[in-house]
Amino acid sequence: MSVRALVVDPSVSESVRPADVPDPVAGPDQVVLEVHHASLNHGDLNDARTGRVPPGAVLGSDAAGVVVQAAADGTGPAVGTRVVALTAGAFAERTTVGVDGLAPVPESVDLVTAAALPVAGLAALRSLRAAGLTSRKRVLVTGASGGVGRFAVQLAAHAGAHVIASVGSAGRGEGLAKAGAAEVLIGLADLDRPVDIVIDNVGGPQLVEAWSMLAPGGSLQSVGWTSGQPATFPPYSTIGPAKSLTSFVNEGEFAADLAILVQLVAEGALRTEIGWHGSWENVAEAGKALRGRQVNGKAVLDIDTHGRRHAAEDVVVEPR
Ligand SMILES: NC(=O)c1ccc[n+]([C@@H]2O[C@H](COP(=O)([O-])OP(=O)(O)OC[C@H]3O[C@@H](n4cnc5c(N)ncnc54)[C@H](OP(=O)(O)O)[C@@H]3O)[C@@H](O)[C@H]2O)c1
Repeated sequence: MSVRALVVDPSVSESVRPADVPDPVAGPDQVVLEVHHASLNHGDLNDARTGRVPPGAVLGSDAAGVVVQAAADGTGPAVGTRVVALTAGAFAERTTVGVDGLAPVPESVDLVTAAALPVAGLAALRSLRAAGLTSRKRVLVTGASGGVGRFAVQLAAHAGAHVIASVGSAGRGEGLAKAGAAEVLIGLADLDRPVDIVIDNVGGPQLVEAWSMLAPGGSLQSVGWTSGQPATFPPYSTIGPAKSLTSFVNEGEFAADLAILVQLVAEGALRTEIGWHGSWENVAEAGKALRGRQVNGKAVLDIDTHGRRHAAEDVVVEPR
């Protein structure tokens, strides 16, 4: 048997196209997930373009759906459980997920919202944690208009920090003040006081500028590099009272932190801003919008092959 999926193909737009692939076979500690919604990340596009996910392989990382086969070793959720997962090969009608890579989703949280959480939400949660987030710290989030950025702004504000959101234009900053940003800046030129934490999604010159505004003892977490530009540090800019620039990657087990994110959504403490929402058949359109800085927040794909729509309760967020 085969399933419909989105596979890497460097010869087509955004290097991803639909294809039939073999039905996934679960290992003993894996469930089979029927994917209802998946979110598209900058990293997925990079994976396809660079060959990190090889041609012909199924793309995708973020999935939300329903367990259709429980793990053979008896761990993890039962058949019928709604879950969110971070797993390789998420863009498929069915995929396998290790039980350490998923969390149950309560009925009060719709699966479209859940699908937006894994990669971006975990990056925001874990980079803030690694930076030593506490209340009253001054936290700068660059690329705050995007997926990681909007989660980081909310999570830092929720912890009682003074959050400064940096975006590319006024329109890109829409909703960030309501999300908890005390200041929304266009670029960093108007940042007038040092910050304790930087969550940097942009890299390049903006990383260098952010580093110059990092207070002694501060932590800059290099999460992403959407600018694609090199960072050139002026001589001696890394000399002085100790502060750190730390590389970041989502790795290890995700279940516990996914559960935290889902819980925050259920409590109304975390919103998923969805700036693009549509069929996975239009993945190239979503990719162009994401790379073109036209998506405020996340892009979510409906896995709706052959006109099949998932249950209405999956969807409470309207496309914008
Ligand atoms: N290390 C990890 O484990 C990890 C995990 C998740 C994400 N990431 C990386 O973190 C970065 C942010 O991810 P995301 O999901 O938040 O991406 P996103 O939704 O596309 O947001 C990225 C933001 O970067 C800003 N940006 C600045 N210069 C840009 C340019 N030249 N081209 C495109 N965007 C530009 C954009 O904001 P403005 O338009 O307002 O300037 C955009 O909103 C990406 O590089 C991603 O690959 C890494």
